[in-house]
Amino acid sequence: MTDSALVTDQPADDPLLYNPFDPVFRADPYPFYDRLRQDSPAYVTPIGLTVITRYDDVSRTLRSNDFSRDVDANATPREDPIFERRRERRNGGAKTILNLDPPDHTRLRRLVSKAFTPSAMEALRTGIERQVDAVLDAAAERGSMELVDELAFPVPFQVISDLLALPQDRTDEIREWSQLITASLEPTSTLETLDASDRAVAQLLPYLVEVVEARRRNLGDDVLSGLLVAEEAGDRLSTEELLAFVVLLYVAGHETTVNLIGNGMLALLRHPGELERWRNDPSLDAVAVDELLRYDGPVQHTVRVAMTPVRYGEGDQRVEVSPGSSVLCVLGAANHDPSVFDDPHVLRLGRPNANRHLAFAAGVHYCLGASLARMEATVAISRLIRRFDTVQLLSEPTFRDRLTIRGVEQMHLSLR
Ligand code: HEM
Repeated sequence: MTDSALVTDQPADDPLLYNPFDPVFRADPYPFYDRLRQDSPAYVTPIGLTVITRYDDVSRTLRSNDFSRDVDANATPREDPIFERRRERRNGGAKTILNLDPPDHTRLRRLVSKAFTPSAMEALRTGIERQVDAVLDAAAERGSMELVDELAFPVPFQVISDLLALPQDRTDEIREWSQLITASLEPTSTLETLDASDRAVAQLLPYLVEVVEARRRNLGDDVLSGLLVAEEAGDRLSTEELLAFVVLLYVAGHETTVNLIGNGMLALLRHPGELERWRNDPSLDAVAVDELLRYDGPVQHTVRVAMTPVRYGEGDQRVEVSPGSSVLCVLGAANHDPSVFDDPHVLRLGRPNANRHLAFAAGVHYCLGASLARMEATVAISRLIRRFDTVQLLSEPTFRDRLTIRGVEQMHLSLR
């Protein structure tokens, strides 16, 4: 999950364009990443954003203390209404764990990790398996399914609801709100997108306040109850911090995983030999999803602000980044860097170093839900491909017109 104000105004004849507005780029950014990585690995856009695409640079930046994740607080102000608006929003609302730097981040992360334990995640497995099987039963009767609406979205949505033990009464509204909120993370956001996102948060919050207050009176063994009682050296999450975290979980927890299941399934259908290998080899269950995350991960980039002078590249590729400048860490490009991954554009399940991918970022903000997301996608995809002998695309899938969180919108499958 990331947010950034990357509005560009680049000349159309720039051969190395990093242009998130270009529909060709958005449809398939990987060839652009290759050119950037090779010819201009630290590419400075006309608004002064440095786009980094090499694995080592991205990994080093994400793990470094010389950068801040709190872009709206620390980036040098620009005369740009969208930039201004993002800064106002940041100052108005509670900060989420994702937008804080240590030591504030360390404090929150310690508290939420207390409830977000591997055993609490593993406890969800049986429910996920049951849900996936019920979806597949229904699809088997029809001999077809639309993967995103029937499987890729409902599974992570249910998981977040189970995790927090939330009522299931407002799924459609919550889905719509969460899509409006994530739209504001896009580099192409407009003032209207930001307004719509704020309205969605304003609608989601009162609902969550009610749920949190009810849970406070009636604690259970769910993660929300765990968050309410989590304590470290006398410290607790404030109600505001808790609500901001729950909103983040909604957004981070299902808008991303839906795309892992969608993009992952599409990658397999385009590599039928790999699909067949996974179907027949249960030992791949433990590793296949890491290669899917590397090959076409849901989160394409995240942003950091330099807090000290930083240098990338050598010779005529050398770029100096000054404090207050933003750096776009392109996770999708790092994951296709041939200096780390042999034949990076080839899908190879069980690739020995697939788990070095940066699809969940790295460093202090490394995805808190990584093991949960891996489990959800493994259960959903492995059960789908083992349940049916033949899984085929019925038509070309469509992609959501998004880049930060990139993924399949609709994918119709025939199943036999
Ligand atoms: C395939 C699915 C997912 C992907 C690709 C993904 C990706 C990411 C990335 C790249 C970050 C770091 C962003 C940055 O450093 O700027 C992140 C952070 C985070 N993710 Fe995920 N995520 C996924 C699923 C989940 C799930 C299922 C949950 C929770 C249930 C979750 C919760 C979080 C949280 C809370 C953070 C913030 C951690 C922090 O700032 O310390 N994510 N995720």
